[in-house]
Amino acid sequence: MHRDTRDEIRTTLHALEAHLAGWGLRQFTSDETYFQWQRETLTPAEITALHRQVEQKCGGSSADEVSFYDTTAHPNILPVLYSQRYDYYLAIGSRVADRIGGARSILDVGCGVGILTTFYARQHPDKTFVGIDRSTTSIARAQEHAKVLGLTNVRFDCLDLDHTAPTRSYDLVLATHALVQAEQDPGIPSRSWNTFERASDRQQQADFERRTGIGPRLDRLSALLSAKGRMILFEKTRQLARRVPLQRALAARDLGLIEQPELIRYRLVKEISDDGPFYVLGRGTSRRFLWDESPEPDEGRLFDRATLKTGLTDPDAPLYENHWPSAQRAWEQLHDTHLLKETTSQEPDGRQLHIELGQAEEGVYLYCANTWDQRQLVIVEPARTVMLESYYQEIASGTFS
Ligand SMILES: C[S@@+](CC[C@H](N)C(=O)[O-])C[C@H]1O[C@@H](n2cnc3c(N)ncnc32)[C@H](O)[C@@H]1O
Repeated sequence: MHRDTRDEIRTTLHALEAHLAGWGLRQFTSDETYFQWQRETLTPAEITALHRQVEQKCGGSSADEVSFYDTTAHPNILPVLYSQRYDYYLAIGSRVADRIGGARSILDVGCGVGILTTFYARQHPDKTFVGIDRSTTSIARAQEHAKVLGLTNVRFDCLDLDHTAPTRSYDLVLATHALVQAEQDPGIPSRSWNTFERASDRQQQADFERRTGIGPRLDRLSALLSAKGRMILFEKTRQLARRVPLQRALAARDLGLIEQPELIRYRLVKEISDDGPFYVLGRGTSRRFLWDESPEPDEGRLFDRATLKTGLTDPDAPLYENHWPSAQRAWEQLHDTHLLKETTSQEPDGRQLHIELGQAEEGVYLYCANTWDQRQLVIVEPARTVMLESYYQEIASGTFS
């Protein structure tokens, strides 16, 4: 990376850290210290109420979601809860701020309490920002903080995008963790257990867009974009089953990639989140990158026949094991395969699970694959065939997942 670019990124990150501190947010490197701070800052009743709201929000109605965001915008709770997202803010805030570019009017959809929107407005005082959100308390907090910061180039409006479209047009629309909240949605399955490809099925696509609400939201937002407008989108859609229909929904609205999508990893309390992709989109001729519908590169290694048995320190370990999508390629490369048994089960909605036990030149293998992009290949010496047979039975008699 060019030195000037690195310096710019560092400068943005320093400004962002100072900005987050102004919101009362803290960065934690251990869960223990975070939860200690949470206990010191919130009363037990506040913690219990928060847990209840989180539970209601997961899989609940949009009213439950609004109620959750109203609660988290309370001045006591805000710094504690949003500190959990500190590394998310660093990852997304810095990327977006450095891509505002030539846009003069920017809309931040689902801006929440405006932590990032106020940062962008501070970084770009010559541009106009509008933040919208359907949580009234979040918007009140955003307005209050913008006033404290003396910002005159940002406005916050309470508006539910599902019911009302913002009126004017924008050069840049930002939607980060705002449009596809339906994290539980399974997405759309692949054509069959032995491919990662999704059928071009209009009904399936329409159902996904309706279930997740992404269709009507994108219709409204793309109508707001000026002729050369851009959109920056970052959602929890990393799984191929949801990434593909999201990408197809964008392409159907004439939004194409103007940057290579980026997969982003950041730390949250209690987990590391693999999120994204981070999409930078534009209309018409500005497109330069093709949509990719294949699985992302994974950690599974392919085996080398000559070295399959070497390097094993644990005598109980299999000769080879791969639990990633790349297991499919490894399975396709097995030599002189001879099937011992196989079964393919199919759910009424078309989902499939395939299991096979076989003998190959490399050893005895068990291969499982389903239409949700899960793959598994295990190879052992013939003397341990019984072990794979019992795995086979376990999976075959288990519930379909
Ligand atoms: C996870 S927060 C993300 C906030 C901010 N964009 C960020 O990146 O930190 C999601 C926000 O989207 C808002 N939201 C969800 N659906 C919305 C809708 N239909 N109209 C307006 N806001 C919505 C929620 O109220 C919530 O504040």
